Amino acid sequence: MKIAVLPGDGIGPEIVAQAVKVLNVLNLDLQMEEAPIGGAGYEAAGDPLPDTTLALAKAADAVLLGAVGDWKYDALPRDKRPERGLLRIRKELNLFANLRPALLYAELASASTLKPEVVSGLDLMIVRELTGDIYFGQPRGISTLENGEREGINTMRYNESEIRRIGHVAFRIAMKRNRKVCSVDKANVLEATELWRQVMIEVARDYPQVELSHMYVDNAAMQLVRAPKQFDVMVTGNIFGDILSDEASMLTGSIGMLPSASLDADNKGMYEPSHGSAPDIAGKDIANPLATILSAAMMLRYTFNDENNAARIEDAVKKTLAQGYRTADIHTDGCRKVRCSEMGDAVVAALRG
Ligand code: IPM
Ligand code: MG
Repeated sequence: MKIAVLPGDGIGPEIVAQAVKVLNVLNLDLQMEEAPIGGAGYEAAGDPLPDTTLALAKAADAVLLGAVGDWKYDALPRDKRPERGLLRIRKELNLFANLRPALLYAELASASTLKPEVVSGLDLMIVRELTGDIYFGQPRGISTLENGEREGINTMRYNESEIRRIGHVAFRIAMKRNRKVCSVDKANVLEATELWRQVMIEVARDYPQVELSHMYVDNAAMQLVRAPKQFDVMVTGNIFGDILSDEASMLTGSIGMLPSASLDADNKGMYEPSHGSAPDIAGKDIANPLATILSAAMMLRYTFNDENNAARIEDAVKKTLAQGYRTADIHTDGCRKVRCSEMGDAVVAALRG
């Protein structure tokens, strides 16, 4: 089992180190090799996705990624910026299905900014399309009009097959859960998402046991904070999924808890926390490594079909939380505040014990 380890920028290296530590305890036959991406790729090779990094990722069965981005690269041309490395690797590996579970651990109900009764028991899976939409649509760019004024252009586009394949992913996941899919669009205004809705209705015919509902994205944003437990699987496009998954992550207490999987059609995947590189706290050993550790669990589940060890990691995380260990982002009174590396050690100890 070959894993390309891409720590990236900011807190990326610290959190990835904890996930690697956890994987190493399992005594699996894992070959892990590291390479730079994002700002680190730019520093090493003048490219946020160096050729050698892409080759390593392509040759691997799975990719474990930290995070990319740092304000110090904001002035670079767009194609040299860290984010471009992330978008390119998603596209190059055809990782069109992004799974972002929002699961509230009972111990963290009080860390959420929402009332415990609104969020306790929350178990929601956001399925975000990841290689299409306004993120990649052409034409795009900033140009100058005849009157000298500048204009920025991006294009929201989805073709039928792109919608259909992510629809099937969502319905298959729903079959293993509570058999409800809510498709989120803006079909009242945007034709690209009117087609999205039509195709979702077609896909649903293959899954008569699953209940399909539709919701406009503005309403979905509101419902997520009003009554998030009404959702089981939410499927949506790239840009809406980007926004709604950040919102959903806060329901769980901290974005530092949310793992993600980005899969291709053969379950090859890239696994990364849903949060960013947090350059403001980089190098301080205070970040929350749990989202990355939980991403490693998703890797075992989805790419390596190892449900047993995936569940072992998740149970170890639960045990660690039950023991009162908290990084700063999820810390509440009476709990034990620990550093990033100490949290990693606590999960390792829970796995051993
Ligand atoms: C995410 C991030 C990325 C995205 C950025 C860093 C390009 O916000 O994975 O959600 O917009 O997809
Ligand atoms: Mg995002």
